[in-house]
Amino acid sequence: MEPNDTATRYDQIARWWQTEHQDSPYGIAQLERAIKFTSLRHSALDVGCGSSGRFINILSKHEFQAEGLDISREMINLAKQLHPEVTFYMEDICCWIPPKLYSLISAWDSTFHLPLNAQEPVMKKLCDALEPDGVLLFTCGGGHKNSEISGAFQGQHFEYSTLGVDAFLRILTSNHCTCRHLEYDQYPENHVYIIAQKT
Ligand SMILES: C[S@@+](CC[C@H](N)C(=O)[O-])C[C@H]1O[C@@H](n2cnc3c(N)ncnc32)[C@H](O)[C@@H]1O
Repeated sequence: MEPNDTATRYDQIARWWQTEHQDSPYGIAQLERAIKFTSLRHSALDVGCGSSGRFINILSKHEFQAEGLDISREMINLAKQLHPEVTFYMEDICCWIPPKLYSLISAWDSTFHLPLNAQEPVMKKLCDALEPDGVLLFTCGGGHKNSEISGAFQGQHFEYSTLGVDAFLRILTSNHCTCRHLEYDQYPENHVYIIAQKT
């Protein structure tokens, strides 16, 4: 599915997402784990931040200058209402050119929506946007080979792709990042989160 189609679907559920996820603990322990690896607390970026700004809250609490990016207009509009002081980018991560380097980048359950052929260039972009020692947290589909799946969520059709864990690790290594943590955190669901650090 092309990113603009994903955006249209998330526009439809942005308000529901905000109500449902504003105080959700989902992914927060994993974000806290990633933060522990950081040595610098300059800028941080949440890719596919959604409408609740829940990762932004944690990043700000840890004294990062937090920013959010999302392709969905509705997600961004709602996030801005909750966090008027924060910089938000309404952008497709596939096309966006990072304006600076970040101490931490999170992409929790967002880049798994990218078309398969966009996975590697986006991972490279995120690695390149890290400061030395910068930390990347992202989720992906597990397994050892690439695959694409689709499914219904809140009445909307969504598509997901993964390169497989081995390929993601290879991409991290070839873009000067090392894996700090990899976990099938919802096993037997095929959901993986990875923490990597710029070497
Ligand atoms: C499952 S939601 C997760 C939201 C947030 N990370 C959270 O955990 O609360 C996925 C988010 O990724 C965004 N997204 C999907 N594809 C994107 C893309 N190509 N560029 C930027 N954002 C994208 C969607 O608009 C949506 O807000």
